[in-house]
Amino acid sequence: MTEAEIVRRLRAAGSVFAEREAAMLVAEAGDADELAAMVARRVAGEPLEQVVGWAEFDGIRFVVEPGVFVPRHRTEFLVQQAARFGHLSAVVLDLCCGVGALGVAVRSRLGGGVELHAADLDPAAVRCARVNVRLGAVYEGDLFDPLPELLRGRVELLLANAPYVPSGDIALLPAEARDHEHAIALDGGTDGLDLHRRAIAGAPSWLAPGGRLLIEVSERQAAMAASLMQSAGLEVESAVDEDDHDTTTVLIGRRRP
Ligand SMILES: C[S@@+](CC[C@H](N)C(=O)[O-])C[C@H]1O[C@@H](n2cnc3c(N)ncnc32)[C@H](O)[C@@H]1O
Repeated sequence: MTEAEIVRRLRAAGSVFAEREAAMLVAEAGDADELAAMVARRVAGEPLEQVVGWAEFDGIRFVVEPGVFVPRHRTEFLVQQAARFGHLSAVVLDLCCGVGALGVAVRSRLGGGVELHAADLDPAAVRCARVNVRLGAVYEGDLFDPLPELLRGRVELLLANAPYVPSGDIALLPAEARDHEHAIALDGGTDGLDLHRRAIAGAPSWLAPGGRLLIEVSERQAAMAASLMQSAGLEVESAVDEDDHDTTTVLIGRRRP
């Protein structure tokens, strides 16, 4: 199959970046059969990142398996915010880590001395994170459950990009997400904040004094999520990404020093 033919097929399937995608598929495929299979998967609607097996986030490449959440560029804003508060040897916990992109990106911004822990419930996400995190620990289980007790009270940056799509809005997501990312990576319950409620309630006992919890929410969830943080005793600050046309809001809850 020629690259021009691939572009034509991708365009017919609705790809807006057909030329760029075709060039990536050609570059990543080992032989003609593999290329044909990859093109077929992409034409059927699988995210490009799952087809080629990697995603770029904050300038770093991450291994991504089929079905696993593809880190979104909008979440680089959370990483930027976290890096404002970190230091060379910060203790960082990436909760609901997916492929581990947030923790690795924060570590890369802060420097190699960071102590990185990451956890996720989805075994496929954990498999990816174990490849991507390398120097650091990756745990499998429900929120804080799999973490070692020794970490309690020591976390300086707790990153939690948990699922926050309200259950009723899942049907409105693009098919790439709805059909090709595991439901537990997307569905945040009735108001989208089920996971955040539990993460916020648990955070104070894992944070070091002065440590911060950072979460990403939609604009309409921000007030409720901020009040949950205040009820948990955290001092709340919010940061809004004005460059993002979807408006990405990051809430930062600080345990008092
Ligand atoms: C929106 S994805 C974000 C992944 C990653 N933080 C990122 O931004 O790329 C949410 C992640 O939360 C995980 N998750 C869902 N429920 C969980 C739970 N109860 N405990 C731990 N992780 C959970 C999913 O498997 C998924 O990887």
